[in-house]
Amino acid sequence: MRRLRRSEAMRALVRETSVEPGDLIYPLFICPGEGVRRAIGSMPGVFNLSVDEAVREAEEAAQLGLGGLLLFGLPEAKDEQGTGAWDESGIVQQALRALKNSAASKKLVLIADVCLCEYTSHGHCGKVIETADGWTVDNDPSLALLARTAASLAKAGADVVAPSDMMDGRVAAIRLALDKDGLNDTPILSYASKFASAFYGPFREAADSAPQFGDRKTYQMDGANLREAMREIDLDLEEGADMILMKPAMPYLDVILAARERVDVPIGAYQVSGEYSMLQAAFEKGWLDRDRATLESLTSIRRAGADFIVTYFAKDAAKLLG
Ligand code: PBG
Repeated sequence: MRRLRRSEAMRALVRETSVEPGDLIYPLFICPGEGVRRAIGSMPGVFNLSVDEAVREAEEAAQLGLGGLLLFGLPEAKDEQGTGAWDESGIVQQALRALKNSAASKKLVLIADVCLCEYTSHGHCGKVIETADGWTVDNDPSLALLARTAASLAKAGADVVAPSDMMDGRVAAIRLALDKDGLNDTPILSYASKFASAFYGPFREAADSAPQFGDRKTYQMDGANLREAMREIDLDLEEGADMILMKPAMPYLDVILAARERVDVPIGAYQVSGEYSMLQAAFEKGWLDRDRATLESLTSIRRAGADFIVTYFAKDAAKLLG
């Protein structure tokens, strides 16, 4: 076996998996204001960015040859319903309009995350109601709010809408709403298999979206379940999803592989905040080689079968690859 490992040229020739900058999607957290670039404590190198700063990031992302951006919003104010999510002048809607006006947008796919948790005062991803046993996230009334949000984001300029809420039936509801508004050409990237994961911890600081009570286990999936993930994927595709997103990535590589073997639609994987933060922590301690570990983590996700990767390392990786 060692004959084919003798030089870098030889290794490059027989390498089975590649990572290209164009495979990488860079998440941005948009906040109100101007000239704002607020560091996120648990995610070194990641910032809350005002719209003008986001446009600058987009220019850099385009220059580096990244595949696209995934946009999240931190609204000025939150309320019970999450009205900021579908507000015509909402924070992500503003960012989308500004980005669409920039030259960078021609080279990038602008993906808008569709969820309510950043916009609701309770921090849950749907409508919360009181029940005899306390509270619950009410599935069907949440669909109308998510569909409205998706249509509003597509109208503001999103090339792709990506629902991450995990309500049942949201893909069908969103497809219907998009088509009704003449947005037939907007694809849906559904977070088809999204597990209730501890690895989202740092994101909730970045997006200020931690649930104020309870957890997300009644709507996000149990991390122990692979077959259930396949059912989620089948349902989302039946409802009209054009692509699927698997999340988290590194602790769930087997789920990505199983999805790859099952379906032929494009598959993305989200290397989530906790995956990024734990690597960053090890880099800071000098326990891992930054450049090698960054690329190895992305290669493993591609090898498992992901066509593209949402990752906070997108810019760093593109620089290493360039
Ligand atoms: C919103 C959403 C979350 C993430 C993406 N979209 C948080 C959550 O579900 O609690 C997590 C992304 C990350 O950790 O990087 N529903």
